[in-house]
Amino acid sequence: MTHSGRWRGNDMDKDYDVITMGDCCVDLILSGGSVVPEFGQKEKVVDNYSLEMGGSCTIFACQAAKLGLRTAVIGKVGDDPFGDLILRRLSDAGVDVSHVARDESVRTGITVVMNTGSDRAMLTYTGTIDAIGREDVPDGLLGSTRHLHVGSYYLMDRIRPHYRGIIEAVKAGGGTVSLDTNWDPAERWDGGLKALLPLVDVLMPNENEVMAIAGAETVDAAINSLRETVPVLVVKRGKDGATVHSRGEDHAVPAVKVDALVDTVGSGDSFDAGFLYGYLNAMPLVECARIGSICGSIKTRAAGGIAGQVTLAEIRGMIGEE
Ligand SMILES: Nc1ncnc2c1ncn2[C@@H]1O[C@H](COP(=O)(O)OP(=O)(O)O)[C@@H](O)[C@H]1O
Ligand SMILES: [Mg+2]
Repeated sequence: MTHSGRWRGNDMDKDYDVITMGDCCVDLILSGGSVVPEFGQKEKVVDNYSLEMGGSCTIFACQAAKLGLRTAVIGKVGDDPFGDLILRRLSDAGVDVSHVARDESVRTGITVVMNTGSDRAMLTYTGTIDAIGREDVPDGLLGSTRHLHVGSYYLMDRIRPHYRGIIEAVKAGGGTVSLDTNWDPAERWDGGLKALLPLVDVLMPNENEVMAIAGAETVDAAINSLRETVPVLVVKRGKDGATVHSRGEDHAVPAVKVDALVDTVGSGDSFDAGFLYGYLNAMPLVECARIGSICGSIKTRAAGGIAGQVTLAEIRGMIGEE
């Protein structure tokens, strides 16, 4: 494994490697059998279910912490059993939860996922997913992280208008920023995104999202347009792995073949964390994508966003790092 210098920046000046705003929620995943619901009071039987912490940013945070990055989530959970589950999962993964508040006035968000194996449909109650505002983000924290990861951009309405100022504060402290918008349920792809992109160091959409963000007809046209704006563009391509693009470089990295695929919930978020592990360790972009791809693929072996995530020891074995 090659490094172009152990760390980007002076990590020991900072309390955290990565912080992210938490879209705190649980996923109830129904899978197998008749997972497509039918009205008219039809009762259908599914093969299995799992109840697990969901949320792109919180799943991302768990994978980042499992890779040894010092990771904090800023967020809220409800004073309910789902809130307990989220706090336990984050803590067990090694995430710093000192900035996750319990709030009696809000209910923990939930997504009901109907999973066919190759595709999924979701119904979401927002609750704590969109509970944090600018007042919940301590200014001191923004200067004390090496990196800010922004996810679920279109699900977090309260914090979205403040991302520009938040990103500027992180950058003023010498930090870098990544953005994984995920899908925009309104499919408008605005919300200040165009103005934010020039401040983003690493943009990590999937194929559908990259076309929507660029307003382009093809993935290639979207890449050609966005690579002029962001220094590093990663396009996640499901079972086909990922490609990474910068001004002077293009790389394609395959997915890891998974024989017993359970579901792809959280694969993109785990990919993001793996990529950033490489990025924050100043590895070449192709290595970053390789680690991301391993994280995204291995996750698919277990149900839900976090159970299948790889640890640092496992990934070091797979990439031949000491
Ligand atoms: N069916 C699959 N088999 C193996 N790996 C997969 C599969 N689906 C996703 N992955 C891995 O997870 C990564 C991210 O998943 P992807 O579905 O592209 O992201 P997102 O969830 O953001 O749409 C992929 O780049 C790939 O490495
Ligand atoms: Mg995604």
